[in-house]
Parts: sequence; C-alpha cells; structure tokens
Amino acid sequence: MTTEMLGLLLRQDGLAKETAFVGNQLERPGEFLELGKVPRPVPGPGQVLIKMRRAAINPSDIAFVQGFYGQKRVRGRPAGFEGVGTVVEAGSGLMGRLLKGRDVGFYVTPDGSGTWAEYAVTRAALALPLKNGVSDRDAAGLVVNPVTAAAMLEMVNSGDAFVFSAAASQLGKLVAGMARDQGKKMIALVRREEPVETLKPLGAKHVLNETDPAYADQLRAVLAEEKPVIFLDAVAGSASARVHHAMGKNARWVIYGKLDTSLAEIIDPSEMIFLNKSVEGYWTTNWAAKTSFFRKMRVFSDVQNRFRDGRWTTDISAELPLENAIERLPQALAQPDGKVQIVIPDG
Ligand SMILES: NC(=O)c1ccc[n+]([C@@H]2O[C@H](COP(=O)([O-])OP(=O)(O)OC[C@H]3O[C@@H](n4cnc5c(N)ncnc54)[C@H](OP(=O)(O)O)[C@@H]3O)[C@@H](O)[C@H]2O)c1
Repeated sequence: MTTEMLGLLLRQDGLAKETAFVGNQLERPGEFLELGKVPRPVPGPGQVLIKMRRAAINPSDIAFVQGFYGQKRVRGRPAGFEGVGTVVEAGSGLMGRLLKGRDVGFYVTPDGSGTWAEYAVTRAALALPLKNGVSDRDAAGLVVNPVTAAAMLEMVNSGDAFVFSAAASQLGKLVAGMARDQGKKMIALVRREEPVETLKPLGAKHVLNETDPAYADQLRAVLAEEKPVIFLDAVAGSASARVHHAMGKNARWVIYGKLDTSLAEIIDPSEMIFLNKSVEGYWTTNWAAKTSFFRKMRVFSDVQNRFRDGRWTTDISAELPLENAIERLPQALAQPDGKVQIVIPDG
C-alpha cells in the first residue's frame, strides 16, 4: 500500500519556451503549481527522507517553477529546493543512517524530491544536522543564501571594497555582516529608502538608493573613493550596465541573478579591451563542485554559528501554510523586505 503526501506540484514539464528570466514575482501561480497528493517518495542509496516543517521560497524557486532555471521541471513532482525537517528514513549508506532522527537544514538536488511538500528526499551529504540554537526560520534557508554569501565574498580581498546590487535582499543582509567581519567594504545598492538606514548597522559601508535624484553623483563619488573592482550583481539590467561602466579599470561584473527584465547591455565594449573590464557569471552549484569537502564543511559550520549567535537572522515577511500557499503567493512575494516561507502543518 502506498502512503500519500500533500505537496505543491509542478504543472509543467521541461524548460520555458522563452529564454528570459522574469524577476521575482509569480502573478499566476495556478498556471505552474497545484496542490495535490502524490506517493510519499522513497529514499534511494545515499539519500534520506525528511519530514518537512518549513520550506524557503527563493528567487531560484520562482524562476524554476516557471521553467527559467536551467533545470528541467517534471510535471507532478513537488517544487522547492530548500527547507528544514527531521530525517525519518534513509536509503543504503552510512551517512544517511547516521542522520536518522536528526533535524536537518537541506538542499534538494535534481535526483531528489522538492521541499514544498509534507516529505522531501535529498542526498544525505546535502542534509546538514542542525546545531543547538539554530531556529527553524533560519534553518529553512540554511544553504542557498548563507553559503552563497560566504562563497561570493571569497572573490573580494580583505581591505577591498565591492559593489553589491539588490542589497536589501536576504543575501544582501547576510553579506553585509560577513563583509564587515572580514574587513571588506560593501557598497550596497538598493531601490528604496528604508534599507539605506537598516543596512548600515548590519555592516554595509555605503548604501545608495538608485531612485534618489543624486544617485549618479553619489555613485561616482563612492567609486572614486573606494575603487572597487568587483560588482556582485543580481539585478543584471540596464542600471547594472551603467554601474559597471562607471567603475574603473579591471572591474569584474559578476552576475549571479536576473531580477530586472531590462536588457543588460555592454555600454562601451572597448572597456573590455583597454580597461581590462570583464563580465562573468556566478553559481553556487559550480562553487560547490570545485570546493573541497573540508572547506565546504567549514562554511556550513560557520553559517550555522552565525545564526546561532545572532550575527545573522532571517527576516520573514510571510508564512504560508502549505494548503493555501498557492493563492497567497503573489501577494506575499510582492511585499518588500523579508523572505516568504511555507509552513507544513504537523511538521
Ligand atoms: N547564483 C547563485 O548561486 C545564487 C545563489 C543565491 C541567491 N542568488 C540570487 O540572489 C538574489 C537575491 O536572493 P534573495 O533570496 O536574497 O532575495 P530576496 O530576499 O527574495 O530579495 C529580493 C531582492 O531583490 C530586489 N529586487 C527585485 N527586483 C529588483 C529589480 N528589478 N531591481 C532591483 N532590485 C530588485 C528586492 O528589492 P526590494 O526589497 O526593494 O523589493 C529584494 O530586496 C536573487 O536574484 C537570487 O536568485 C543567486
């Protein structure tokens, strides 16, 4: 007899036909997701089954359900890459057996089963046993943004400045504190006035509001003062192109997201030749593939310590019960400042 579980299931297969990302909104979630029952997944060799308590909703999930994440969707499978819960079963393998009964924050690989459901399956190696004092709110997003913050800051030398767009994001808040602790000067770009005040105490050295009429002058002055050569950019639209253009020689435009729908044009290609400027992409999946096991373990441990001792925290803007998450998603995602999470009843 099969045991069933409830989940937010993908309604479409494969990748989207259009090639562009569409920001971080989901106006018609019913086109892409439905609440339904499917058989509870069974963990294979090296995998664990996790009874879910909470799941994150990240921009990568929103891109994925619409077919814009470079990873093929499978109709009828639960969506969701990240979450927290308890390991209740393990496939063959020592690591999984050791995790049985443990609370874990985890990420789901394509061979697993998504977190927007009552149960999820992932590789045991991607399930991080929680340290005492790490809350479920923080643990639901323990991998994607925290590890990305640590990994991307490896690109910046201690003492140097760097530019960071969409800095009011959860990732931006994490980067602000870690950068300050590492002696790296964050030049944070935001699009509202509120984060100008909140990001400084978190650790950003400069915070500029792109909608301020004086923004272009402020940016020019800060770039002249700090001389950053790294631009960590999740917006990747025409405003980002202008920032890269305003930066000095050797400026590396590192694109790690696509929140803006406008074209990210190269304003003056000769800068790539004569000023040694460059454009590149960044993806934590690639960082994980090329980083040693021990370095990753150190990062995972450091990430948990930062949440445990309060240096980091997760701002939540909405908690959506699994059963009615779909209809509430558009409004929840439109709120600024904070993550939307799915809460699994009885989890
Ligand atoms: N490549 C990787 O490996 C990797 C890993 C992790 C995260 N990411 C990317 O990092 C970014 C941030 O993720 P998150 O989970 O921290 O996001 P989040 O907390 O959901 O916040 C999203 C932020 O983006 C801002 N934003 C949205 N559209 C924008 C636009 N058109 N122009 C300027 N700002 C815009 C929002 O500004 P307001 O606050 O003003 O609404 C908000 O602060 C996402 O693009 C995500 O895909 C990439």
